[in-house]
Amino acid sequence: MAEIWHDEATGAWLAEMHSTAYAFGLADGGTTLRHLHWGGPLPRAALGGLQATAAGAMPRHERQLSQAPSERPDEYVPWGGLRFDEPSLKAEFGDGTRGVEWRVTEQRVLKRGPVTTLEVDLADTAYPLLVTLAYRVYDGFDVLDRWATLRHVGRAGDPPVTIRQGHSANWWLPPRAGWRLRYLHGGWGAENQLAQTPLTPGKVVLESRRGTTSHQLNPWFTLDPEGTATEEHGEVWSGALGWSGSWKLVFETTAGGHVHACGGVNDFDWSYRLDPGGELALPRFAGLYVAGGFGAASREWHAWQLAYVLGRGDDRDRLSARRVPPGFSTTPPPRITATPPAEVARRSAAASAAPPRVTSVQVPPAHAAGSMPPLRPVLYNSWEATSFNVNEAGQIRLAELAARLGIETFVMDDGWFGERHHDRAGLGDWTVNPQNFPRGLGPLIDRVNELGMRFGLWVEPEMVNPDSDLYRAHPDWVFHFDARTRTQQRNQLVLNLARPDVAEWMFTTLDRLLSENKIEFIKWDMNRSFSEPGWPARAGDNPERSWTDYVHNLYTVFDALRAAHPGVDFESCASGGGRVDLGILRRVDQVWPSDNTDAWDRVKIQEGFTQVYPPQAMMAWVTDSPNYLTKRELPLSFRFHVAMAGALGVGGDLHHWTDAELTEAAELIATYKEIRPVVQRGRLYRLASVLRGPFAASQYVAGDDVVVFAWWGPQPSGARPPRVRLAGLDPAARYRETGSGQEHWGAALLADGLPLPEETKYTFGSTLVRLVRA
Ligand code: DGJ
Repeated sequence: MAEIWHDEATGAWLAEMHSTAYAFGLADGGTTLRHLHWGGPLPRAALGGLQATAAGAMPRHERQLSQAPSERPDEYVPWGGLRFDEPSLKAEFGDGTRGVEWRVTEQRVLKRGPVTTLEVDLADTAYPLLVTLAYRVYDGFDVLDRWATLRHVGRAGDPPVTIRQGHSANWWLPPRAGWRLRYLHGGWGAENQLAQTPLTPGKVVLESRRGTTSHQLNPWFTLDPEGTATEEHGEVWSGALGWSGSWKLVFETTAGGHVHACGGVNDFDWSYRLDPGGELALPRFAGLYVAGGFGAASREWHAWQLAYVLGRGDDRDRLSARRVPPGFSTTPPPRITATPPAEVARRSAAASAAPPRVTSVQVPPAHAAGSMPPLRPVLYNSWEATSFNVNEAGQIRLAELAARLGIETFVMDDGWFGERHHDRAGLGDWTVNPQNFPRGLGPLIDRVNELGMRFGLWVEPEMVNPDSDLYRAHPDWVFHFDARTRTQQRNQLVLNLARPDVAEWMFTTLDRLLSENKIEFIKWDMNRSFSEPGWPARAGDNPERSWTDYVHNLYTVFDALRAAHPGVDFESCASGGGRVDLGILRRVDQVWPSDNTDAWDRVKIQEGFTQVYPPQAMMAWVTDSPNYLTKRELPLSFRFHVAMAGALGVGGDLHHWTDAELTEAAELIATYKEIRPVVQRGRLYRLASVLRGPFAASQYVAGDDVVVFAWWGPQPSGARPPRVRLAGLDPAARYRETGSGQEHWGAALLADGLPLPEETKYTFGSTLVRLVRA
């Protein structure tokens, strides 16, 4: 059970999660919310003591002067008064006043089955700004999901409120020393590399200013005191932001010695004007505490995402939205509906002056609250095989080979539309190329279906090549400043999806594509960062909010497509892993972690990926050897064993695979289908890290089933570990290897390890061992 308890006597709230707790309370006569606790379980009786210290603390100005280390910090820091910590909220009002003073006015708790949500309202004491802080807990989990919603609650005609910084949440860490920050950084072809740094007085900022999540940094972190946590031991605090646009996380050690992590949408070049009745729901920022090391943190993240994030849409209850504040009435935002192209064109002329509207679509959840999403099918993707050279006959030949392997979804990648014979033309023209597909997509899809596979298609709807009919018709649809260069990356420009007409065009185009063709999988790509994010027609009318409107409209298009086409699965790709975060994962079923398909590099990329995101969401292809990027040659079994550690796919040019390779691949795919529930839904233990040497191993446990992968990189002869110690087993149980029939005591596997087969202990050897509890 997870609950949020409010102690009326002391004015404190206690979120009681599976095995951890979080608390905050009223202070300074209700004008402040003070953070009280985040960590292990807290008896309700202890809350009063914490709250009394907070409530009886020195007045704020004296605390600031003394910098007393015992001060209990603001739960969510507004800029205003004597506050010098990184603020979570900075607002400007109509008369030029900058700074917030507020008072807690209301709280609401809603329990829906296993999910409980608390909302606490803070109303500005002089201006019509209402801030709602939300806290959500889930039965059986230690994840606390948080967000903030900002509303203008004035009357029509009142001056606007401008938000200059708006964080989703602020996380205070307990008073410990020597905090170590771990995070993921990288670049194209080298995503998800783990980095770490000690927190010293001052700030560490992680951010994306690229308009998308980015390859360079990912919005996730762990913090452990004294930097002593290991994979399976030690206290770990972790956070992950659900936002697919520019984001910012700030880790600050305050002058008073407190450490906090706060963040959300990036305030860089951004402001958001709230007019009367206006509302801004900030992204969700989840956090968790575990006492069992980085592995326990990852397992908690994975299980929670399977139950509540993957493909689920934004399932926030809009509790406070139901209360219409006095002074105005709210009209429900318009839905995106299929609009005829002529109507789209007509509206587009008028649209540049209209403010962007954030439409909302209720997505029916793909699976019940708390239940597992469906297993991911084994997929084939044509990109590395055929690049832009796609046509009906060639794709059918590939599909026939893929079917021989036991592939379940066949995906045709880039090159099928417009004049897309290379990356210099065609983006934006989402109609089938008539030379390469004279009969449309129908015959290819029929053949793929006949072969027993689902058909999938690549799209990149947010982009346009200047050499395209779309750009020739709508040069004003891209982000640009009139007097500045429209900088191209990969010969393409970014469509200004903050524009309602672009959002509507995007939905209509994709809706038509999905309605006219039996497409059951979409790979949604996005191959460049934003530059010149201008919207000249909105000059002087808060064009800076485009950074967030773009992402809101992106989510809305996804949500609307999922609602209209519930049978279609989606993959998020952005030149590899440039858009992987909890926000996009609510809209898709899987993500493409990297364009680097070299299996040895992937071991490291996957180790970083699984720190926070679940193996089920991690698409992993087996491609050709030597690898197109690294030129490294790797055995087929090694390439499979690495890809089988996630959602398995194949991306090689099957025309060049020998019969022996096709047979071996078919056998490995058949094996994968047997272990798939364990890999995709089990608990992951990273037994040996590639960061500590050229040997890595991972273990998955689901019920009585255990799957172990081990991979060896380049190393001197004789340096191979003969055994790998397993984890998460019952020491008193016996486990049988399904291949050899050999039995082991759980205690022996935990203490002495699993003997590894001799023949696989060579450079780029690998093994897959399956055990079942006897
Ligand atoms: C980048 C993606 O990451 C690749 O997998 C492929 O889809 C190409 N784009 C196609 O242009």
